[in-house]
Amino acid sequence: MSGMNEAHGGWFTPGQIVGFVGLLVLGAALGAGSYGVGHRLAGTGSGAVVAAASSAVTPDGSVLYAGNCAGCHGAKAEGAVGPALKVVGGWSAADFRHAVLDGTTPDGRTLGVVMPRFATTGLDGAPPTETQLDAIQAYVKTLQ
Ligand code: HEC
Repeated sequence: MSGMNEAHGGWFTPGQIVGFVGLLVLGAALGAGSYGVGHRLAGTGSGAVVAAASSAVTPDGSVLYAGNCAGCHGAKAEGAVGPALKVVGGWSAADFRHAVLDGTTPDGRTLGVVMPRFATTGLDGAPPTETQLDAIQAYVKTLQ
């Protein structure tokens, strides 16, 4: 196996290049989704481009809540490790963002350290956007 790699010094062989081009053509033929796969397999698609494309889609508050909050606040925001989130229904969007990003509530409380500072920890591994936070708040409001 390593002998094979040394043989062509890490450069693509003509056979591999033909294979990549074939993938691109096949992907294009199968539609946009498949084109993305072919694109990535060929090594020309960057993670940044993929992330930008998916964050342009309106975020789903229920998915964000389930993945980042439900473990502590309960699937229905009824409370578990963290408190029930009924109070959030009366908060402005700015108040909610501030609490989730920095752990400070509208009445000036600093939340305990168990509540993550999402400005630091990120949502699903990326810095939270206002639209994502608004979507989470809107979803939490539907639970009460
Ligand atoms: C690791 C557990 C944990 C996770 C994950 C978590 N929280 Fe919390 N959260 C807490 C705890 C514990 C508190 C209470 C802290 C306190 O009162 O000092 C809290 C408090 C809050 C408060 C303040 C509630 C109030 O009554 O003032 C809000 C709002 C909140 N969390 C929203 C969220 C949202 C939205 C998410 C997901 C993006 C989330 N939390 C994820 C544990 C968590």
